[in-house]
Amino acid sequence: MCGIVGYIGKHAAAPVILEGLSRLEYRGYDSAGMAVFDGEKIQIKKSVGRLKVLEELTHGGATMPGSIGIGHTRWATHGAPSDANSHPHYNAEETIAVVHNGIIENYLPLKEKMISKGYRFVSDTDTEVLAHLIDYYYKGNPLEAITKVMHRVQGSYALGIMFAEHPDQIFAVRKDSPLIVGQNEEGCFIASDVPAILKYTRKVYFIENQEVVRLRADHMHFYTVDEEEITKEPVTIEWDANAAEKGGYEHFMLKEMYEQPKTVTDTLSPRIKDQDIVIEELGMSDEEIRAINKIFIVACGSAYHAGVTGKYVIEGIARIPVEVDVASEFRYRDPILEEGTMVVVISQSGETADTLAALRESQQLGHKVLGIVNVVGSSIAREADNVMYTWAGPEIAVATTKAYSAQLIALYLLAMKFGRVRGKLGDTAFHNMLEDLKRLPAQIEMLLANKQRIQRFANRYIGAKDVFFIGRGIDYAISMEGSLKLKEISYIHSEAYAAGELKHGTISLIEEGTLVAAVATQDGLFKKALSNMVEVKARGAFVLAVTNEGNTDIEKAADYVIYIPRTNQYFTNSLAIIPLQLFGYYVAVGKGCDVDKPRNLAKSVTVE
Ligand code: F6R
Repeated sequence: MCGIVGYIGKHAAAPVILEGLSRLEYRGYDSAGMAVFDGEKIQIKKSVGRLKVLEELTHGGATMPGSIGIGHTRWATHGAPSDANSHPHYNAEETIAVVHNGIIENYLPLKEKMISKGYRFVSDTDTEVLAHLIDYYYKGNPLEAITKVMHRVQGSYALGIMFAEHPDQIFAVRKDSPLIVGQNEEGCFIASDVPAILKYTRKVYFIENQEVVRLRADHMHFYTVDEEEITKEPVTIEWDANAAEKGGYEHFMLKEMYEQPKTVTDTLSPRIKDQDIVIEELGMSDEEIRAINKIFIVACGSAYHAGVTGKYVIEGIARIPVEVDVASEFRYRDPILEEGTMVVVISQSGETADTLAALRESQQLGHKVLGIVNVVGSSIAREADNVMYTWAGPEIAVATTKAYSAQLIALYLLAMKFGRVRGKLGDTAFHNMLEDLKRLPAQIEMLLANKQRIQRFANRYIGAKDVFFIGRGIDYAISMEGSLKLKEISYIHSEAYAAGELKHGTISLIEEGTLVAAVATQDGLFKKALSNMVEVKARGAFVLAVTNEGNTDIEKAADYVIYIPRTNQYFTNSLAIIPLQLFGYYVAVGKGCDVDKPRNLAKSVTVE
């Protein structure tokens, strides 16, 4: 996500910070800023746009003298990209400066509390709340103020903090957002990721959740959230700079797959409050939710596949008819949008030309549009009537993984919210589903841990010519995404079929050894899925099956089985897609393909 760099030492801080931030540029950001103590006060400079703008503004850091500072590249979450929303943020007296990565979930009540105490806010960010809160609790002891704030905020954060009254120290704090500190002969460093400081030092300390570090020019002290001092051992980083950018992963795609448990948590947890689902950004009253009589979901590629899952989930849970359309079709087919029709567009980049055009078309027809978008401040986010963000952070690999997973979560939340408000989801079912949702991150982690088994299997199919993915119901939606993941990065032809449709033509393509990946996670459709597997196996196919734990009957029909943990029948896509992503990835790696940048593809499709 965003980048943090801090320095305290013998050299000028600003050039070190600018250099460090430049090493994090690959992560994506929309604005940058720095705070440096100049001997009298904390000076802050920040601006929207590339880091180059900040470099020019500060003459490469020369106009910000001082050897203590913190810097930040921001990927907008709360509040659009703007100078005011860029970090660092100050308290009113400009004596405390804060940079922050992560999301403060309870920032609204905290903000209200601070406003009632006379604090004035100049940005829309959750971070500014932290600057004022620290100010509120600061009575001369920075550590005490910081830990008091840590006890009061919920969510994820990595922080760099400096106090004008303590110009010989800076602070680093972390919970659920990555942060490291490092040291060399010339000073100490804070960074949200290793590559930022690799030029200066390979001796780093990984900060654990709820730990605080006090950095001075020549040493560091570590504390718990209860202000108890602790000792930590340094780690020597052996990776080269290129590997470090990817956090040690071979490709961004693999790194992003591994970020999925966090993405799911980040998209989910801000919207679960007191055992209820609260989607403030939906902008719809219960009355309006009850008045919906049809939903159109419009998107492209993987976002469209998330939409197909959404159709099954929303229709199943909330009993609202849903039509899903590829945006390039929707915009030209003169769609019939009647009163009571809700339009939902889904897009990671928020810039996809066809999806944007579909949004505009719907608005012209007099309909409000809800955007499920990842990039804050993107065109779709700006033009949609309401935006529900997926908090996946920047996605660098062209083939989407974590943003897709976040889109599924957003759709589950919508379905459950609508089902509840419309009286289609009883208390017990609702609470069981909530518990299942909360378990998803740990279950995804478990599936990811099984990667070697999938890698071994994938190695057998490097030479495959055609692969088929089949499933029924939600499993058909998973098959579509599994098939796209394989073909777009490995260049192996693959197709997804509704399993029952195979025998209406496509089954003639099955030859001895053709791989058929069959997804069978829906208990009600299990027997039918099984007979479709038998059909293809009888014609020579090698059947890879993905099913729920306990469905051992499948071993009679499949040659190789991947079991996924049990979850609610509507959420299985979030689990079944993990082995399919890994399969596509490892086939592509085995073939030596450029996994992160497949040929002919762009991350953001801004043309028709
Ligand atoms: C496939 C993939 C694409 C995108 C599609 C829509 O891995 O990433 O199919 O899903 O181009 O892009 P967004 O979500 O940015 O609108």
